[in-house]
Amino acid sequence: MRNRVVVLAWAGFALSVAASLAQTSGSSFSSAVQPIFDRKCTKCHGMKDQKAKLNLSYGNAYAALVNVPSTEVPGMLRVKPGDPEASYLWLKLEHRAPKGSGMPKGFFFAGHLNQQDMDTIKAWISEGAQP
Ligand code: HEC
Repeated sequence: MRNRVVVLAWAGFALSVAASLAQTSGSSFSSAVQPIFDRKCTKCHGMKDQKAKLNLSYGNAYAALVNVPSTEVPGMLRVKPGDPEASYLWLKLEHRAPKGSGMPKGFFFAGHLNQQDMDTIKAWISEGAQP
């Protein structure tokens, strides 16, 4: 009886560790990707202004990206789950898109996201672009 209690306690502990690891995996859309857009993109792709008809604001970004054709290159998807190379968003962030400038566009020239933000977005796309 006492052994069973100990086993159950360990199982509960292991489950809670697994749950917290899953939360901090860094590639969840709402907790990891959306905050990057909020900081770097929504002044041009938000509720007021939607350059290239793209709205990256909270509550709109996911539906505007995943499996949606690009405005600039309609033959490509903005985000193709599992495939960063076939995702127009990723090419824009790497300054390799065939049209327009790299993102985030600045007033005089385009900038780059930092490495951590790039890794987060790439991992999110590679892992299937989950909501
Ligand atoms: C200063 C304004 C500005 C900022 C900030 C900005 N963009 Fe853009 N974005 C534009 C403009 C203008 C275009 C269309 C012209 C071009 O591509 O240069 C565009 C086009 C795009 C496109 C192409 C959309 C399509 O469907 O073809 C993507 C993807 C994009 N931006 C993503 C981003 C992301 C992600 C960020 C933040 C990391 C960002 N942009 C920040 C102005 C901006």
